[in-house]
Amino acid sequence: MNLPDLCVARDRTKKEISYMDLDQKYEPLFKGKKYFLRTYGCQMNVHDSEEITFYLEALGYTKTDTLEEADIIVLNTCAIRENAKDKVFGYLGRCKHLKQQKPDLIICLCGCLTQQPSEVETLKEKHSYVDIIIGTHNLNELPELIVKKSKKQNIQVYSNSDKVFENIKYKRDSKICAWINITYGCDKFCTYCIVPYTRGRERSRKMENILEEVKELKKEGYQEVTLLGQNVNAYGKDLDLGYDFATLLEEVAKTGIPRIRFVTSHPWNFTDEMIDVISKYDNVMPYVHLPIQSGSDEILKKMNRKYTIAEYKELFNKIKEKVKNVAITTDIIVGFPNETDKDFQDTLDIVKYCEFDNAFTFIYSPRVGTVAALMKDEIPMSVKEERLKKLNELVNSYSLKSNKKLLGKTVEVLVTEVSEKDNNKVCGYTDTMKLVNITGSKDLIGKIVPVKITDAKSFSLDGIVE
Ligand code: SAH
Ligand code: SF4
Ligand code: F3S
Repeated sequence: MNLPDLCVARDRTKKEISYMDLDQKYEPLFKGKKYFLRTYGCQMNVHDSEEITFYLEALGYTKTDTLEEADIIVLNTCAIRENAKDKVFGYLGRCKHLKQQKPDLIICLCGCLTQQPSEVETLKEKHSYVDIIIGTHNLNELPELIVKKSKKQNIQVYSNSDKVFENIKYKRDSKICAWINITYGCDKFCTYCIVPYTRGRERSRKMENILEEVKELKKEGYQEVTLLGQNVNAYGKDLDLGYDFATLLEEVAKTGIPRIRFVTSHPWNFTDEMIDVISKYDNVMPYVHLPIQSGSDEILKKMNRKYTIAEYKELFNKIKEKVKNVAITTDIIVGFPNETDKDFQDTLDIVKYCEFDNAFTFIYSPRVGTVAALMKDEIPMSVKEERLKKLNELVNSYSLKSNKKLLGKTVEVLVTEVSEKDNNKVCGYTDTMKLVNITGSKDLIGKIVPVKITDAKSFSLDGIVE
């Protein structure tokens, strides 16, 4: 491997920028040393961790799953809700203890938490044993920071760069399914959400670079790509080049890669052209994650979601009508400040109306710096917990109902790995993103196979290869 390569990134103008002068002489410094990497949060972080893994392995580290064995611990953090933050701080306690026994241990924090100035201040004050703090915009500087730290310099970085980097190298977790960033950041500013502050303004990668990446992955034998962004369908708006997400999706479909997915789409930016592309190309999966957040127009307005329930329903019905056998999933927040019983009932009603294939449900968590965090909220936590329980029961009943519709049918499954629950089985996802445990051999891994569904539960299906 050519080490200096990994430190070169390009901005949108394709001007090459070298971030560090890391040459071969540093590599032996980390040979035989081990890294422990833990990822919190969403697919963005999962994919960022593939970039971090590349850097760590290029520097000579090998992976360990045992915290105590590590020479460097990297925690890729999430700030979306308080419990995500709590998990990181809980883990940090263990890291501190280890550092006392092993002073050379490098502790590195990155991700969304470290993109918040107030959190960085707390970390510096109360967790001064953390060696490297790096944000989400400048991960490519990580190798340099690790090398410098190994020379006993203590570095802390916080960056608000709005660049889009190309030529990023990844050590991907899978050889079958790949994540591809198409946009970074978010401009929507939903009043409850921290993401626009941690990930910055919406920035799109150029279509030609994305297509190049898809073609390369196809050549390497990848079966599936997932186009990633906080709002994938806002793609292109910042570039002003005359193309949008529907154009990009169609071009990606034309590459012939077997399966294409995209997350997350915002109802506000969902166009008819997008629906046409999804229904026209067999390799664009009939699966749409379409967060609704609440069933109440009042709450949606306070959330700054930019659509009404009537508009959501219209879009929902259009997608269902035009995309054959489509599965639609959603995100729902309960307990937004002063959500009334009536507002919550509206949420239950929209779930009953849409019969979502699945829904990710959350109790509202105030995030410092957001508009909603300043709203007065008199609803007790016990009421919010009760609402979540009720909502989950309803959501799960519809997941089961939609899974049961597949009983006895034969569906195509991309087999990705050995089943977690049973080593004698393999598992994978249907085109509609339903998990199937399959009685079959490991030889099926990496293949798209017809599977007859023999059992259906709320969260998974069982099947046999036809
Ligand atoms: N960009 C995506 C998802 C972002 S985060 C979108 O807009 O759909 C994933 C989910 O976390 C959100 O859809 C929302 O349901 C939830 N979420 C975000 N901020 C939250 C908060 N402060 N409290 C509780 N849930 C939150
Ligand atoms: Fe957060 Fe809203 Fe942006 Fe999604 S669209 S990331 S919920 S601000
Ligand atoms: Fe968490 Fe950041 Fe994703 S806050 S959900 S890791 S964008």
